[in-house]
Amino acid sequence: MSEEFARLTIGDTTYKLPIIEASTGERAVDIRNLLKETGLITLDSGYMNTGACTSSITYLDGKEGILNYRGYRIEDLAENCSFTEVAYLILHGDLPTFEALKSFRQDMRRFALLHEDMIHFFDSYPPNASPMSILSTTVNALHNYYPEMNESEDPYGGYTVTAARLLAKTRTIAAFSYKKSIGHPLVYPSPRMNYCENFLNMMFDRPNLPYKIIPEAVSALNKLLILHADHEQNCSTSTVRLVGSSGANLYASISSGVSALWGPLHGGANQAVIEMLENIYADNKDFEKYISKAKDKNDPYRLTGFGHRVYKTFDPRAKIIKNACDDIFEILDINDPLLDIAKELEERVSNDQYFIERNLYPNVDFYSGIIYRAIGIPTNMFPVMFALGRLPGWIAQWTEMKEDRTRIGRPRQLYIGHPQREFIAIKDRG
Ligand code: SDX
Repeated sequence: MSEEFARLTIGDTTYKLPIIEASTGERAVDIRNLLKETGLITLDSGYMNTGACTSSITYLDGKEGILNYRGYRIEDLAENCSFTEVAYLILHGDLPTFEALKSFRQDMRRFALLHEDMIHFFDSYPPNASPMSILSTTVNALHNYYPEMNESEDPYGGYTVTAARLLAKTRTIAAFSYKKSIGHPLVYPSPRMNYCENFLNMMFDRPNLPYKIIPEAVSALNKLLILHADHEQNCSTSTVRLVGSSGANLYASISSGVSALWGPLHGGANQAVIEMLENIYADNKDFEKYISKAKDKNDPYRLTGFGHRVYKTFDPRAKIIKNACDDIFEILDINDPLLDIAKELEERVSNDQYFIERNLYPNVDFYSGIIYRAIGIPTNMFPVMFALGRLPGWIAQWTEMKEDRTRIGRPRQLYIGHPQREFIAIKDRG
């Protein structure tokens, strides 16, 4: 705790507010006693300036474009690890030993099946049901089949198993929802495959057309999931923490995170990016039409995949994904016109004063859909891929909130409605 204070003068009184320092040197004004000392609250809609918690999981530097998980650079993790290894790091705080990773993988294999009764859930959705809707409801329903995690007090003793269970079963739910949507038989998880191979096999294997695992696709998927694994207090993670702070179980909290992620301003952006690129391509590549719409104050249209609340420079994840696009296209000898459209749009935006002045750069969602397409994942599954990647982060953040014995989240407000007024019975209201 630094000895520095902020001084807040209200009327004739000056209050001293402690300034606390993060391990990375960032500082914050601690207003936890503001209401008690001054009788005033702060107002910060959208939490643009408000820290909701302390955390030791992820560090972002929006100016420098830095993203670290538990102190490790995202670039090093994306280049050298599997998603399971990074999930373990985020959940446990350190990279796993060979034995720990083997045991974590075994847990994930052990828990990969869904209770057979849950298979009927998928029959009750229409074929065009949103995979995010299916994911959110089915994850929530897991609690009815695996309630035991509520009895465990030890955040890691009990939740380690639950984390492995959630990671494994959520991947199965995602793949089953896709198979059901195309009317194909479900492909069950294999005990001989790691996380990403298993997912791709469950998605694309068919009795009449066996799926051939493509190492480059597995590697690209590992990289994408790693890049989505956590991102401090974004909208969906804050939702998971807030719901969990009421004492709601982990499955219900994660289910709410899936719902928050679904929005096109958040995890739904990767799907919206592809739809935007397809529109530009279909509209004779009329880039300027879409760029002008995005700049028009009277038009709600935005260039999805650009801009970020924290990054005011290139999102480090977007850089890695853009390079991965080139790699996988070259290796798989793919030619997707949308990649050329994306690169030209990025080029035009990077030279446009409107975007330069507002520090609007490609974010994690801008190029990710291009790779998902190259792997064969349908566009409406892109937000689900984001959720699969973000799951270890949500679980770790929820567990940290529990460990910190965080009080129930309950923001305040400024009331701007009617002053108190006399009630008039309906017979006298005219
Ligand atoms: C994710 O928080 C996270 O960490 C999220 C995430 C994660 O890993 O969890 O990184 C994942 O959600 C990435 C973001 C995906 N969303 C999109 O790509 C949707 C398009 N982007 C925007 O809607 C917007 O940039 C947000 C939502 C990402 C950020 O919104 P902010 O911080 O509230 O910024 P803002 O809306 O106040 O914009 C500031 C200015 C405004 O113009 P002025 O009023 O100052 O004139 O920039 C403009 C905005 O109109 N602007 C855009 C724009 N984004 C912002 N103009 C055109 N196109 C855009 N994409």
